[in-house]
Amino acid sequence: MRILVLNGPNLNLLGHREPEVYGRLTLAEISQAIERRAAELGGEIECRQSNLEGELVGWVQEAKGTFDVILLNAAAYTHTSVALRDAVAAVGVPTIEIHLSNVHAREEFRHKSMIAAVCVGVIAGFGMTSYLLGVEAAFKLNVAQQTAK
Ligand code: DQA
Repeated sequence: MRILVLNGPNLNLLGHREPEVYGRLTLAEISQAIERRAAELGGEIECRQSNLEGELVGWVQEAKGTFDVILLNAAAYTHTSVALRDAVAAVGVPTIEIHLSNVHAREEFRHKSMIAAVCVGVIAGFGMTSYLLGVEAAFKLNVAQQTAK
């Protein structure tokens, strides 16, 4: 079971970026915690971050055949990126949308996700635990897919 975790723009600033919204953990600390959880469950995780939309699109495209599930925190691109939505839809690797904050309790422009409709599900509002729940969900999904075959 291989999980690709993709983080979008400004998530490299976690730790000191609006800590009242996003907490005080750095992206490296979050990545270590989810790598540990995936290892406990017998899987592997690769975590990447980019501030560039096209780079994220490229990584989604390359995931086909290499990763079983994508956890995608597209950050601000969640609300704007038709390109990322189309990549997720085109590639067909099951994708789970992740957010640290509860986007529905924030500004109205964050209530709309371009990507959610082509994802298996969305986890938002639990800080780092959103990623850990995403890992759990990825494993559940993979088991369900293997059993259905
Ligand atoms: C975010 C929510 C987005 O609205 C925002 O642009 C981010 C982070 C989150 O994880 O809560 O950069 O995706």
